[in-house]
Amino acid sequence: MNRLDVIEALMRQKKLKNYLEIGVANGHIFFRVKSSFKLAVDPAFSFDRLRRVGKAILNPANLANQYFEKTSDAFFAEDAERVIATTPLQLALIDGMHEYQFALRDVENTLHYLSDDGVIILHDCNPLTPGAAVPYEEWVEGQWNGDVWKTVVHLRSQRPDLNVFVLDTDQGLGIVTRKKPESMLDFTPSQIARLTYEDFAQNRTHWLNLKSPDYFYAYFGIEK
Ligand SMILES: C[S@@+](CC[C@H](N)C(=O)[O-])C[C@H]1O[C@@H](n2cnc3c(N)ncnc32)[C@H](O)[C@@H]1O
Repeated sequence: MNRLDVIEALMRQKKLKNYLEIGVANGHIFFRVKSSFKLAVDPAFSFDRLRRVGKAILNPANLANQYFEKTSDAFFAEDAERVIATTPLQLALIDGMHEYQFALRDVENTLHYLSDDGVIILHDCNPLTPGAAVPYEEWVEGQWNGDVWKTVVHLRSQRPDLNVFVLDTDQGLGIVTRKKPESMLDFTPSQIARLTYEDFAQNRTHWLNLKSPDYFYAYFGIEK
């Protein structure tokens, strides 16, 4: 199971359509999503206008795509209110800057525009090595997940209005819904900022509320 499987299952069986992707890169996921309302946000798209046209021919859902070549912070400050005003978001893939405060702002800003039954998918929540979890400036090579895991710990500590768990697949897929939490953690933001990868590795399953991929189908009442 990967993030596209999750998105497609929620679109197909829960009829969630209006889609935002933060951090789009070459559009590997974005162009495949079948929705007539899709917003792409990335300060540096890895595709040109020609590829956009080609993708619209292959998947007509791409005809109405809206592209914002800027950071997510700039998108929310300058465009979101106008663009999303009459079309509440139902699905968002947050996969931009993989650092605690950035990912947290992305979640909080997205929640502002998310319908009650909406779902946020947070990529890169489960780094498997210390090297994958370093800050962006220290990242050398290989997989980089950053410390999005701290965003999960923050939401599970500070937001009694959200249920948050992480699927143990595809680098850790965080799932955020507006429901009573199954359980909560008890960290303040300043405590979270000081947590280390070693702390995380010792408490991974508990802190992430880590679930097997099959849990996704049970949670949403979706047939496989
Ligand atoms: C891992 S890639 C995204 C992959 C894509 N979502 C997928 O599933 O194929 C991360 C992207 O985040 C973008 N990014 C970095 N900082 C960002 C920011 N502040 N706001 C939005 N996107 C950002 C990068 O330019 C990069 O293209």
